[in-house]
Parts: sequence; C-alpha cells; structure tokens
Amino acid sequence: MRKIKIFDTTLRDGEQSPGASMNVDEKIQVAKQLVKLGVDIIEAGFPIASPGDFDAVKKIANEIGGSTIAGLARAREEDITRAWNAIKDASLKRIHTFHSTSDIHLKYQYRISRDEALKRSVEMVKFARSLVEDVEFSPMDATRTDIQYLLEVVSAVIEAGAGTVNIPDTVGYTTPSEFGDLIRIIKDRIGSSAVISVHCHDDLGLSVANSLAAVLNGAGQVECTINGIGERAGNCSMEEVAMALKTRREFYRADTNIKSKEIIRASRLVTRITGIPVQPNKAIVGANAFAHESGIHQDGLLKEKMTYEIMRPEDVGLQKTELVLGKHSGRHAFKTRLKELGYELGPNDIEAAFVKFKNLADQKKYIFDEDIEALVTEEVSKVHEYYRLIDMSISSGMKQEPMAIVTVQVGSKSLDMMKYGDGPVDATYKAIAAITGTKSTLQKYDVKGITGGTDALGEVIVTLEESGKTVRGHGSDTDVIVASAKAYLNALNKLASRKHKA
Ligand code: KIV
Ligand code: ZN
Repeated sequence: MRKIKIFDTTLRDGEQSPGASMNVDEKIQVAKQLVKLGVDIIEAGFPIASPGDFDAVKKIANEIGGSTIAGLARAREEDITRAWNAIKDASLKRIHTFHSTSDIHLKYQYRISRDEALKRSVEMVKFARSLVEDVEFSPMDATRTDIQYLLEVVSAVIEAGAGTVNIPDTVGYTTPSEFGDLIRIIKDRIGSSAVISVHCHDDLGLSVANSLAAVLNGAGQVECTINGIGERAGNCSMEEVAMALKTRREFYRADTNIKSKEIIRASRLVTRITGIPVQPNKAIVGANAFAHESGIHQDGLLKEKMTYEIMRPEDVGLQKTELVLGKHSGRHAFKTRLKELGYELGPNDIEAAFVKFKNLADQKKYIFDEDIEALVTEEVSKVHEYYRLIDMSISSGMKQEPMAIVTVQVGSKSLDMMKYGDGPVDATYKAIAAITGTKSTLQKYDVKGITGGTDALGEVIVTLEESGKTVRGHGSDTDVIVASAKAYLNALNKLASRKHKA
C-alpha cells in the first residue's frame, strides 16, 4: 500500500471561496480539527496577501503541531520571505511557491517568455531552499501548459531543490484519462526524485476523479479542501478522495493517514465557520449521503447492510445524536464534553459558552452535541460588540402586518425602534438597520434547525455586504427570529470592527 499524503488547503484555496473569509480564531479551530483528522500538510494561508493572512499563518505555525504547516508564496523574493517569516516557528514547515507556465498565462497575464518563467521558478525555488528544507513548487495552469516545457520546468525545479512538484489543474479543464497520462509521463521522467502532488479544481465536476486518476499513475500527494470549497467551483473534496481510497484500497493500492471518523466533525465545523452549506446529496458529508428512501433499498438494508451500503455511517463519524447534557449538568461536565468534542477554549470563552448553555438548558430539555457545537462556534466567531441585542418583541400573523420592536445597546445608550416589514425577520432587520444607522445589504440568509423537534436551536447565518466588504454573521437561539437578530448584529459588529481597524 502506498501512503498518499493529504495536503489540505481549506485555509488558503478554500478561503478563496466568495464570502468564506475566516478570522484568526476560526482558522485556529479549523487547523486543530485538521490535525485531528490526520492531514499531513496544512496550507495555512497566503502570508503576503494581507496582514490578517500573515498573522493567521504565524499563529497556526506557532500553536499547531502534528502536521506540516505550509505558507503559499508567488515566485518572488518578497513573497517567499514573508511566507518564511510566517511559518518559521512551526516544528514541521514548508514553503509552497508557484509560477504560471501556460502560454495563455505567460502571454496575457505575465507578459514574459517561457525562458524567463523557467529562470524565475528555478531562482525562487533555490531562494526558498536557502530558508527551509521542505519546498513545493507549482507550475500554475499546468494542464494547459505545453508538455515538453512543463517537463523542462518540473526537472529544473527538482534540480533546484523542490522536494514536491504540484501539478495544478488551475481552471478545472482536464479529464481523468488525460490527467492520468500526464502524471504517468511526469513520473516516468522524474522517478522518485520528488513527490508528485496534484491540485484539481472542480469546474467540470471532475476534481476528485482527476485526483484519483493521478494517484493511479504515481501521484503521492493530493491537495484538497474540506467540503470541496475553494476558488470558483471549488477544489477536490478531502472527504471524497480519502473515503474513495479507504473504501477501494485494494483497487488503488493506496491509503492515507486520514482518521475518517473525524470527517463529519470537520465538515460541520467548516460549514459553520464559512457559512457555506453542504448540498444534501453531496457524497460522504451531505445530509442524505447515508439516507435510504426507496422501499427496495430499505428492505435490502434491513436484511443485510452490505446490500446497499458501501461505507458505514460511523466510519465517517456519523453517530446517532446522543443526549449529552441537561439543565442540571455543571461546569465540569460541560468542559469535559467540550474537550471530547475537540474544542480547546480559553477560560473566558468557556465561561461565556457555559452561560449560554445554561440559558439554553432552561429553554430546551435535551442538549445534544450539535447544540454545544453551535454555541461554541458563536463564541469563537465573536467580535467586539459595538451593538448588542437587549430585547425584542414581534407580532405577525395572516391578517396582520408583521411588526418588530427591537432594543439594541449602542455604546452606552439603549435604543428602541419599531418597524413593519414583509415578515418578522424583515421587520426586525429594518429596526436594527434604523437603530444602528448602517447601510449594508443582505446578500444571503440561511436558517436551519440544529436538531429535530420544535424546541430545536435555530441557527442563522447571514451574509452582509457594505462598500465591497462581505461578512458573515452567526446566531443561534431556540427562537429563530431572535437567532436572526443575533446573526445580523454579529455581522454588523464584524463590519464595525473592520472599519475600526481600518
Ligand atoms: O489552482 C491553482 O493553480 C493554485 C496554485 C496556487 C497551486 O491554487
Ligand atoms: Zn487552486
């Protein structure tokens, strides 16, 4: 069995999904879960992109052990130095540098010759190697690059010191058999002088198939993201590639270090933090991935699971939700459960989450793991509260225009407003916008019940846009209108905090 390395780029390419930007604490939570999942390399960000990106990569490098921490850099000294400064304190570290190699990119974007691109790539790999042992090079848009030239670049960067060459299908253009052939040709040329990695985008829905074809033809590393998030249609999905290799290991004669039981938790964490929902029919982590509806299937399953189930739900971490805590549970039980769920929060965050837990336990008899995860995500995604919800009441009905009265604390003042709207949420949002004097536009509103039952905690994620800046707000409550108000205020606080920092 060959061990295929999993290089997770949720925090870098994944973060390039529209509206998916994460704050430093959120990135730390995701990175911790990636370590638990057993990913070999975490691409923590693109340090030159912004001071926030630099800080996040640095914090991850300083605090997270167990996986290699990679920082992305264009093939430029300034980028590489910045990436190095961000990752240098990690115990296992890598610089991932890239340069386009396709004629389309060289002619229209970089306006340089092939020779010049080759020279820059080699020089920058050498420069990166002067700082760190572990260097990866990506010839961007490799699948639209002239193959002879691509082979020349690959050989030259290995000679210059790259231990991994990543072949990106940057625009999701290739097909499994074509990509498999390309990887075989590269493998024949370079032998075992470097690890061949692949980085496939999903524009034609082929990223996982292309990555698996590459594994069959000699690739030793797959780049991927949780839930397949990423630029445009996204990247190869980590859970799909890992479960394909696990379920069909005899066929692929390959396996990964992924601890599959951590997959669902990672998927839910990334959904909560990015606000990007998973489609119900998505393989492995979709809500319907293990749901059998047809009578014939159910009949077969009842007789023998193997008839219609190629993976067991528990293998990916799906368990029947267990009743964990209730009204009488104390701090100690709450802390222990948080730890078991993989959350390591500071004392203040634990205390704040515990207070919320107690309030929730007063309203809801049974508290499930998912409820706790929602409370904790709210704590992690918290920002300075410029605006705080004090009280609200609404009235609505079939023969009545929906109306909301909302009280919000703004600085030292408590302000009320009454507004009518198209529905109770609309009326509430109008009241909040009037109180705060904010001019953001609502781009997306998602609500879901976290567990079953009419007393379920409602979780709301909103996306707001103001002056070209997009933020996500998160709120949960047993009352979905209150959860909506909290999510809206959370997003407004994030906008205010950005303005304040600027
Ligand atoms: O898609 C791509 O080509 C990339 C590179 C930076 C590896 O993300
Ligand atoms: Zn990419």
